[in-house]
Amino acid sequence: MGAHPLRLPSLFLVIAALTICLAVPGRAESPAGETVYAARTLGLHAEAGGAGKPVGRIFIATPLTVLDRSSGWLKVEVKGWHQEGAERLLYDLPGKRIRSALLAKSAVASLRPLETAVDPDSGLTWYGAAFAGWVEEDGVTDDREPLWERAWHTFSTKCVACHQRRIPHHYTANQWVSFLKIMGERAALDDEEHQLLLNFLQHHASDTGGETGKE
Ligand code: HEC
Repeated sequence: MGAHPLRLPSLFLVIAALTICLAVPGRAESPAGETVYAARTLGLHAEAGGAGKPVGRIFIATPLTVLDRSSGWLKVEVKGWHQEGAERLLYDLPGKRIRSALLAKSAVASLRPLETAVDPDSGLTWYGAAFAGWVEEDGVTDDREPLWERAWHTFSTKCVACHQRRIPHHYTANQWVSFLKIMGERAALDDEEHQLLLNFLQHHASDTGGETGKE
């Protein structure tokens, strides 16, 4: 008496641990649930292989959740926020115009609605939504840091020709849209450079909690 009660629970724990180990597949075989980032502007397609017209576009540096994988293609889900009547354009955060995805008109019906949020600054309601599609696997990265490094390089080389380098968190995410519209042209940024720098500045803005870590 007294020797047995411990045995049963520990055997149970061993079996439970083994079951968990066997149930979680290796990362390489099944990346489902993994977060990756668009390493460039990506075409979003209805099928793996990308036949037909794209159903949308994912902007560089946007986070994506991997759902499935098929010979060089990844099925991903992009989550974002849109306004009523403007369902084609998804933003990263409610009320912050950080572009994540632009969908084709025909794709809007396939949006999966999520929660809503009221932006306290404007009183506007924002609708959370998710959209799934296929992208080329070589167009994503699991580390956003090198993208931010690239953006910082652009910022610290091309945005200092006429004035001192500005401080990203001295402006709001939405102010950066209008500043960069003018300044991007002055600095002769190409579309991808512009979008990446904008995304970087917006994620390090005064109202997105961002510091740059470089000051
Ligand atoms: C060709 C010169 C030139 C280049 C290149 C340039 N700027 Fe400017 N920038 C100006 C001038 C001049 C102003 C002063 C306000 C105005 O004329 O619009 C200004 C103002 C600003 C402001 C307005 C707020 C403030 O602090 O006064 C920001 C922010 C800014 N620039 C950011 C940038 C960024 C980011 C880049 C790189 C993409 C950049 N600038 C590249 C000329 C330039």
